[in-house]
Amino acid sequence: MHFTSKNINDLNRIKRLNLINGISGIKSANLIGTYSKSGTNLSIFSSVVHLGSDPAMLGFIMRPNSEIRRDTLENIKGNGAFTVNHIHESIIDQAHYTSAKIDSNISEFELCSLTEEYLNDFPAPYVKECQLKIGLQFVEKVDIKSNGTSMIIGEIKDIYIPEECIDDKGYIRLDRIFTVGIGGLNSYYSLKRITSLPYARKDEIPKFKNKLM
Ligand SMILES: Cc1cc2nc3c(=O)[nH]c(=O)nc-3n(C[C@H](O)[C@H](O)[C@H](O)COP(=O)(O)O)c2cc1C
Repeated sequence: MHFTSKNINDLNRIKRLNLINGISGIKSANLIGTYSKSGTNLSIFSSVVHLGSDPAMLGFIMRPNSEIRRDTLENIKGNGAFTVNHIHESIIDQAHYTSAKIDSNISEFELCSLTEEYLNDFPAPYVKECQLKIGLQFVEKVDIKSNGTSMIIGEIKDIYIPEECIDDKGYIRLDRIFTVGIGGLNSYYSLKRITSLPYARKDEIPKFKNKLM
């Protein structure tokens, strides 16, 4: 099947949204926790990406909506902190429903039966049910002019991970902490490590056979 840009533009809004949301493959599955004086907020995001390790930074894409207040962004701007929590296989349904549009004064933690956890005085809530949790300090918001979205960037301040899921070189076994992946906006996948390869040096490239010939 071949979609040209005209075919894509001619699709109905929902089909286009489903297709384009799924086209980049498996995305990270995270819950972002924030705090404000009027309450806590928890929302699912599939756009968290690694930006660099020195300084250690992550970013995520916020799709703003002019009609609806985005609590995650407002809270981050308010107290400068947020947490990123890997979604564990056992809480997929609860995590998914944090995307519902609800009033600011209701916390998704309570609504979706997830547990707020405060660690080492960090000013934003972690999700107790998640095994890998990251505390970040807001650094900057980069507006993407071409489509009106923004990248929210944070510097990593704390990482919590079970000791048995990280080796002495710092490699993490995502399958052992039961982190899931997201396809599109509503499909969740479990992760299985297939292999682990060395750093790719040009003089160590194996002789590959072209499988199509
Ligand atoms: C699987 C999934 C992934 C999502 N990823 C994002 C995302 O990366 N960026 C975004 O702006 N919204 C994303 N959303 C939508 C938000 O979760 C939703 O708008 C939520 O209400 C935002 O909460 P807030 O308004 O309290 O900040 C996603 C929703 C689902 C179901």
